[in-house]
Amino acid sequence: MQRDGVRLNLPAFRFWSHHSCRLFAMSGRASGVYEPWVLWVVLFLALISFGAEAKVHFHKWKVNYQTWAPDCVQVNIISINGQYPGPNIRAREGDTIVVQLENLIPTENVVIHWHGIRQIGTPWNDGTASISQCAIYSGETYVYKFVVDRPGTYFYHGHYGLQRSAGFYGSLIVDAARKEPFTYDGELSIVLNDWWHKSTYDQALGLTSNPFVWVGEPQSLLIEGRGRYDCSATNNSCNATNTQCSPHVLQVQPGRTYRLHIASVTSLSALNFVIQGHRMTVVEADGHYVDPVEVDNLDVYSGESYSVLITANQDPSQNYWAGVNVRGRQPKTPTGLAILNYLPNPSTKFPSAPSPTSPLWNDYAYSKALAKKFVALKGQEELPPLQSNRRLILLNTQNKINGYIKWAINNISLLPPPTPYLVAMKYKIKGAFNANRPPDIYNPRDYNITIPPQNPNAVEGSSVYVFTLNSVVDVILQNANTLTANNSEIHPWHLHGHDFWILGYGDGVFDPAKDPPKYNTVNPPLRNTVAVFPYGWTAIRFKADNPGVWAFHCHVEAHFFMGMGVVFAEGIEKVGRLPNAAMGCGLTRNKIHIHE
Ligand code: C2O
Ligand code: CU
Repeated sequence: MQRDGVRLNLPAFRFWSHHSCRLFAMSGRASGVYEPWVLWVVLFLALISFGAEAKVHFHKWKVNYQTWAPDCVQVNIISINGQYPGPNIRAREGDTIVVQLENLIPTENVVIHWHGIRQIGTPWNDGTASISQCAIYSGETYVYKFVVDRPGTYFYHGHYGLQRSAGFYGSLIVDAARKEPFTYDGELSIVLNDWWHKSTYDQALGLTSNPFVWVGEPQSLLIEGRGRYDCSATNNSCNATNTQCSPHVLQVQPGRTYRLHIASVTSLSALNFVIQGHRMTVVEADGHYVDPVEVDNLDVYSGESYSVLITANQDPSQNYWAGVNVRGRQPKTPTGLAILNYLPNPSTKFPSAPSPTSPLWNDYAYSKALAKKFVALKGQEELPPLQSNRRLILLNTQNKINGYIKWAINNISLLPPPTPYLVAMKYKIKGAFNANRPPDIYNPRDYNITIPPQNPNAVEGSSVYVFTLNSVVDVILQNANTLTANNSEIHPWHLHGHDFWILGYGDGVFDPAKDPPKYNTVNPPLRNTVAVFPYGWTAIRFKADNPGVWAFHCHVEAHFFMGMGVVFAEGIEKVGRLPNAAMGCGLTRNKIHIHE
């Protein structure tokens, strides 16, 4: 266990240690990186500061495609070190994570985003291609290094093209250094996903074609990378007895209470998680403590994470299903299942009960009521400033650009440029992106959100919202009808580099006069992802206090791919020297040295 390892309080020293290795094993890792005497000094300082705080977790990852059968149908997935899902990262608040990532995919570039980690002081390691860094080319190695400054349930995933959808993700859990406001006997963790048999190449091709080919509903829902497709329904290579698709097992001792970490990396689906016969108490959301909410089932939107407490208080002679069902879209996908295994029952003993059910897929009233139940735990979380310095009202619309279907925000569909924004802004590279100010408010103001856009044309763009460092920003996400009559979708919006307070949700068009007085400024939850419900709006507030360039986008992967996002920036002059490896693409491709 890494917890047993030596803790080092040496922030100034950059050395590398394997996450599960003892200090003495470090020299092998570090050879070629530092002179031997450095190691002896490190070793000495480590011994005298025995028991002190921060630790460095070193991971060496190789990324490549390989065949796998997450739902029994064999497909190509992106694996890390041959594993799917990728390795779990586990650390303690204040620790440093180092991931040396080697891209072995011959035909694709990669990046990894550490979802929920704010990257304070390391904005170049946020892992967003075109925004924070150049994608890591085939055959190249990039070293991500960042501090996990806050406890909670997080995860990581590819952030280039549709690579997340190809299985490129894993969990990242940060333990608290201080006593937490709840107790439990053990911990469990799952990452939820939806799954397609069609390759992400084909998916991307369809999304960028005219006529447009939508990815469609997923074939399966996966819990911790495992699902079950009916082999008789496919001509693909499918083997129902493949152990890769046997249900994930959550092992519990009767009578004990567990903290279950739940995160969702779905490409499309909003999910509802339910454990047969067991209630759950939600205690953490996106790395922040919430006032405990007891639920029978839990909506989890893509990009969200939770900790729930469950007690194994049912008949111990049985095992129970844990399941996920689709919400907000007419479900065409069967329930994704895992087994809650009461020891000493064998984990192979399938529960006799049918798959657990969730509220009706279009019972939005249920979802909205549940979302509003999450408030910050009193005394544990920072409260929002009472005023903001700037307000953006971002209308999301589905549009057509030269006949191609896109999503746009205030009529601009995000087209990420070849030169990463962070590089371009830091080094003042002209022409790298559109330097015009994007609109703070949509136009016309009387846009009818209840019908398909009357003028479906939008433009592609790459402009940036630049905020004064430390200013307070409100964003109202305004939903609307898609290109299809009587259709508006759920969009889970995720902000990089910050957490935000959810000030409120509303139906219809946001009213700048009547709605702000109703904001919750007493105990709003801090989150990094929030749902915008059909035909409604969601208001958030955050402090633009993290120098860097940050994506803010819909976490539905195909929506972001089709332009549903914006770019925020603040305090660029405070950003430290960018590592050379983050640069060297786009307009910086042929520049050998950039001098400060
Ligand atoms: Cu988890 Cu920009 O996304
Ligand atoms: Cu969306």
